Amino acid sequence: MAARTAGIVGTGAALPEKIITNADLEKMVDTTDQWITERTGIKQRHQAAPHETTSSLSVQAACRALEMSGHKPKDIDMIICSTISPDMPLPATAAFVQHQLGAPPCLAFDLVAACSGFLFGLTVAEQFIKTEKARCVLLIGAEILSRYVDYKDRTTCVIFGDGVAAAVVVPVDPPSGILASEMHTNGEMAKQLYIPGGGTAHPASHESIDQGLHYIKMRGNELFKVAIRSMEQVSLRTLKQAGVTTEELDLFIPHQANRRITGAVQQRLGVPPEKVYSNIERVGNTSSASIPICLDECVRSGRIKKNDLILMTAFGAGATWGSVVLRW
Ligand code: UT7
Repeated sequence: MAARTAGIVGTGAALPEKIITNADLEKMVDTTDQWITERTGIKQRHQAAPHETTSSLSVQAACRALEMSGHKPKDIDMIICSTISPDMPLPATAAFVQHQLGAPPCLAFDLVAACSGFLFGLTVAEQFIKTEKARCVLLIGAEILSRYVDYKDRTTCVIFGDGVAAAVVVPVDPPSGILASEMHTNGEMAKQLYIPGGGTAHPASHESIDQGLHYIKMRGNELFKVAIRSMEQVSLRTLKQAGVTTEELDLFIPHQANRRITGAVQQRLGVPPEKVYSNIERVGNTSSASIPICLDECVRSGRIKKNDLILMTAFGAGATWGSVVLRW
């Protein structure tokens, strides 16, 4: 019998109650509902309340994922929190999650790979599970990007939204589980999407705040074509590695970056539109939370069924990109 691999047995999401519509943004910056809808596909995004933190939403999502999986916090032996919007620079948000959840002390850390972070985390979890170093991994994609967005910058504030989702990753028997994955980082494009301030390059100071260095900066149109090409190529290689064809896919979940980007990737891969999941209209771009929020919506609505063949792909700041082929 083939060796055990890693699979997802529970998902959960936590989206803040408050919604920012395109009409709300029209009052803040020089933009229109028409521009945002046509260029991105986004109609609204969620925004965390002041009392909500990345870890507090993560704990909510984790409880829902654990409940679905039938596991308890005491079962967790590894926590990976993928985030570019942590509670604070130190310590890891994963530490707050472990404590607030009541999980035992375990290998818990944050992972910084932006929009590709959930897929990076899934491949890390897969390795620990395959080598029997972990049996119950809590993987979280968590972002409160509104704390890092400049609501005077129309090139970023219309795109990003807040949200968190978690997955419980455990050993499963073939044919279920991760069939193939491939991840990349190329720092050549590091400054096309970044937060320059608050680290050792530009420590927080009155000047750094005055210059807005603590806000997300993005040259979106420079990322656009690279994002499409990267997700297409890595997806084709990952499908080949898994030994499956595009036609066999039941569901394609691309990172919700921009509907024009995901539409182009879907067309190039030849996936029919009815097999592509999208929630960008309601949720916006939630970076590393984007794919797990989609997964959770699909599982809870019955869109994902046992044995379904799923392709997930992402591209984000770093630049980072990757794909995972998974049989549910
Ligand atoms: O999440 C993973 C990593 N991120 C991405 O993959 C993002 C990829 N990029 C994008 O999604 C798109 O590039 C954006 C949605 C960010 C921008 O769309 P675009 O079609 O690439 O627009 P652009 O940046 O080329 O700008 C076109 C025009 C410019 O005006 P001019 O120079 O033609 O007069 C911008 O100033 O649109 C203007 N513009 C806006 N106008 C109204 C930019 N943002 C806005 C806005 N409202 N919010």
